Amino acid sequence: AIERTFSIIKPDATRRNLTGAVNAVIEKAGLRIVAQKRVLMTKAQAETFYAVHKERPFFGDLVAFMTSGPVVVQVLEGEDAVAKYRDVMGATNPANAAEGTIRKLFAESIEANSAHGSDSVDNAKVEIAQFFAGNEIVG
Ligand code: CMP
Repeated sequence: AIERTFSIIKPDATRRNLTGAVNAVIEKAGLRIVAQKRVLMTKAQAETFYAVHKERPFFGDLVAFMTSGPVVVQVLEGEDAVAKYRDVMGATNPANAAEGTIRKLFAESIEANSAHGSDSVDNAKVEIAQFFAGNEIVG
């Protein structure tokens, strides 16, 4: 089915001027960028976004990293977009990521791993609504 997923190009990638390079991988995979903006996340936004991880030992570092510089938030659309984008990103830890994936190509570490993508269609809806109004998404 045609789905939408939520993507973040993380601060490690924007800092190295890799927004276009990441987008090229996304578009080459057949996903369409139907919304996109560059933002500096507030601590509150990052804490809300990653609330499911709040008991994890890496939560504080993760929030600090995600607010350390600009991110590019996106909505991606396409056939099986949620699963497809997870394939395109590769494993969370770049050491385990397959050749040609965003994280294999660009990630610096498990934390500074260049990209986030939703893990389900339901979570995609929640995540998209945290950053985009309906009229900012143009399919
Ligand atoms: P993301 O898909 O954005 O979701 C949670 C993030 O936590 C994950 O990508 C990683 O960047 C980050 N993270 C940092 N340390 C870990 C860890 N040990 N295990 C999983 N995720 C981690």
